[in-house]
Amino acid sequence: MDKIKIFSPATVANVSCAFDVLGFALSNVGDEMTFRKIPEKGLKIKMKDNMHLPNDPRKNVAGVVGLAMLKQVMPDFGVEMEITKGIKPGSGIGSSAASAAGAAFGMNKLLGDIFDLKTLVEFSMVGESLASGVRHADNVAPAVYGGFTLIRSLNPLDIVQIPSPSNLFVSIVHPLIEVRTRNARKLLKHSVNLRDAVVQWGNIAGLISGLFMEDYALIGRSLKDIIVEPVRSILIPLFDELKDASVGAGALGSGISGSGPSVFALSEGHENAIAVADAMRAVYQNSGIDFDVYVSGVNKNGIEIINS
Ligand code: HSE
Repeated sequence: MDKIKIFSPATVANVSCAFDVLGFALSNVGDEMTFRKIPEKGLKIKMKDNMHLPNDPRKNVAGVVGLAMLKQVMPDFGVEMEITKGIKPGSGIGSSAASAAGAAFGMNKLLGDIFDLKTLVEFSMVGESLASGVRHADNVAPAVYGGFTLIRSLNPLDIVQIPSPSNLFVSIVHPLIEVRTRNARKLLKHSVNLRDAVVQWGNIAGLISGLFMEDYALIGRSLKDIIVEPVRSILIPLFDELKDASVGAGALGSGISGSGPSVFALSEGHENAIAVADAMRAVYQNSGIDFDVYVSGVNKNGIEIINS
């Protein structure tokens, strides 16, 4: 294969209570990336959008992933990557992850499909490290695998695919302010109180069980984060109002998407998710805050080949 064009999806990490261990992929928001073999060795990046991300592969999240793969494989050709971002950086819906995971996937195809999906997640985390200073897989794993993925362990990497209830939809509102994951992580305390931990892992287990059993009410009851959300929500304008409005409009529950500022809400059924998105939109409409709104199903396939 000499050329491939792919779609790499946006993702919601944490899913409220499951900080750093759970995420899922979206169907209709993501980056497009084209990979071409070129005769000169090394990596070239062309950014085809107006998001002002660096062309220098050493400073670009997709670039560092590509360089790591070229270093390991040492092919007798180089690669040109063309990136059209559909996800704004610092949005909380996995912008760096989509580029990093897309890079791992596309490079692997040009290199002869030699790496398995788990190894692609390992490579993708090189990009996440550049973006946030920390290896975390709760965005890149769902981008690569699709659906919901649980990071049972990071060292060694153990990824568990969790089924997605067929009628589960997400509504997302993205206030157009930038929150860097690196900064949102600095706010967090390094220890948690045991009593809080018990509540939190009860909710995580409930959420995972709800996904397996397609028990929407259990999913809703479990979407509660008493550890990270109270700290990070101060960065998000009208956060409490968004939560109240989404649950008032029928959402199962809601929370911060990744490290924010996007806020997500899960609903049973597409119509409900649209009503919830409308309610979230109404909160921001007269507030002077610019925002984007998305409604999506859960993307079960992860990164997709557009053409090759
Ligand atoms: N788990 C990461 C965090 C996700 O919350 O910092 C970042 O998108």
